[in-house]
Amino acid sequence: MAVIFPRWTNWIPLVVVGGLALAVPSITFAVLYWFSPEYTDVGYAPKQPVPFSHKLHAGELGLDCRYCHYTVEKAGHAAVPSTETCMGCHTAIRNKSEKLTLVRESYNTGKPVEWIRVHMLPDYAYFNHSVHVAAGVGCATCHGRIDKMTVVRQAKPLSMSWCLDCHRAPNKHLRPREQVTNMAWTGKGYTPSVKETHRSKRVDIQRLRKALLNETAKTPVRMAQKSHGGKMAKEKIERIVVNPPEHCSGCHR
Ligand code: HEC
Ligand code: HEC
Ligand code: HEC
Ligand code: HEC
Ligand code: HEC
Repeated sequence: MAVIFPRWTNWIPLVVVGGLALAVPSITFAVLYWFSPEYTDVGYAPKQPVPFSHKLHAGELGLDCRYCHYTVEKAGHAAVPSTETCMGCHTAIRNKSEKLTLVRESYNTGKPVEWIRVHMLPDYAYFNHSVHVAAGVGCATCHGRIDKMTVVRQAKPLSMSWCLDCHRAPNKHLRPREQVTNMAWTGKGYTPSVKETHRSKRVDIQRLRKALLNETAKTPVRMAQKSHGGKMAKEKIERIVVNPPEHCSGCHR
């Protein structure tokens, strides 16, 4: 009898099943990834118990972010201000306003206002504000133009790929530290003097050397020549070393 199906075709069902076994999780992963918060959380803007406006307080009145979120440079979390901070002004300003009823109640009872969280990472992801602020990442880079928002809304995805996009190439997102809370800062004409290191990888000495040489040859010296009449004044230039983790345990501790 002629061999219609050569012997190897016996393997086809196995290959198909095996292939599916591999394909299903990766498709599931792709779907989960695609619909993960990167594509759904942006724009989240819950209604708050008190109609507090950043547009008014941070924008028009020009209060610095740190006036209220005063732990942001020192701690992992950026504290939401206590009622006392509000009442510093509102015992005198608009002290009869209905919009401030809950704030006055809170002041009298000592029970904090129950603000609704806008930005929230899952528990298994670790984040720290002070590290980012000290490295010169601006509030606006991660939160958008808060000073233009009447109601805070999430401007960025806060997804893993969003974090990693910056961690892989942070330089262009950095600014001088004193500009961190400046919402209008554009960075025009600013070249950060920053060295990236990558502790998650083995140090590639050649690459690092090249990067350093390039940096010394171009940015700092050019800046130095501008401001010091052509003299080499490298040591005068502040150089921050940033070291954002790319390895899993950097953010999943
Ligand atoms: C007068 C006090 C005050 C100032 C100044 C202020 N904030 Fe806020 N901020 C608050 C309060 C109160 C909340 C909680 C209510 C809300 O979300 O609107 C808040 C919430 C936030 C949130 C959302 C927190 C969450 O739940 O995820 C972010 C982000 C934020 N502020 C950033 C900023 C930035 C950036 C600046 C400077 C441009 C700033 N704030 C200035 C009082 C202030
Ligand atoms: C540095 C002073 C200052 C601080 C601190 C401050 N505010 Fe205000 N707030 C103002 C001023 C000024 C106005 C606008 C008054 C006007 O429109 O004439 C205002 C207006 C408001 C209004 C609108 C009131 C109305 O009747 O329209 C609310 C609500 C409010 N603030 C909530 C808060 C809360 C909540 C905090 C604390 C997180 C806070 N403010 C902290 C100065 C301040
Ligand atoms: C590198 C990105 C990044 C920068 C820069 C940044 N934030 Fe955040 N912010 C986040 C993330 C992510 C969360 C959610 C943190 C969580 O759930 O643990 C958050 C949460 C907050 C909250 C809610 C309370 C908290 O800590 O969870 C406030 C308030 C806030 N940010 C204010 C600020 C202010 C003010 C600045 C500038 C001084 C700033 N942030 C700079 C990413 C950033
Ligand atoms: C716009 C740039 C940027 C974004 C976005 C960003 N980071 Fe970072 N991150 C940095 C830089 C720069 C450093 C390095 C700071 C240093 O080495 O001084 C850093 C450092 C860290 C560290 C190390 C802190 C430590 O204590 O060692 C953690 C953890 C981290 N980031 C988590 C996150 C997470 C989680 C997100 C997303 C929710 C995120 N980052 C988004 C720029 C960013
Ligand atoms: C720069 C910080 C950072 C690093 C490095 C990082 N992750 Fe994440 N990861 C996050 C954040 C933030 C989330 C939460 C994302 C969200 O809520 O959408 C997350 C979510 C996850 C999830 C849940 C599924 C998902 O995509 O939302 C898995 C699984 C995961 N990470 C695995 C890893 C592995 C494996 C590595 C190492 C290869 C790694 N992560 C490195 C920040 C990081």
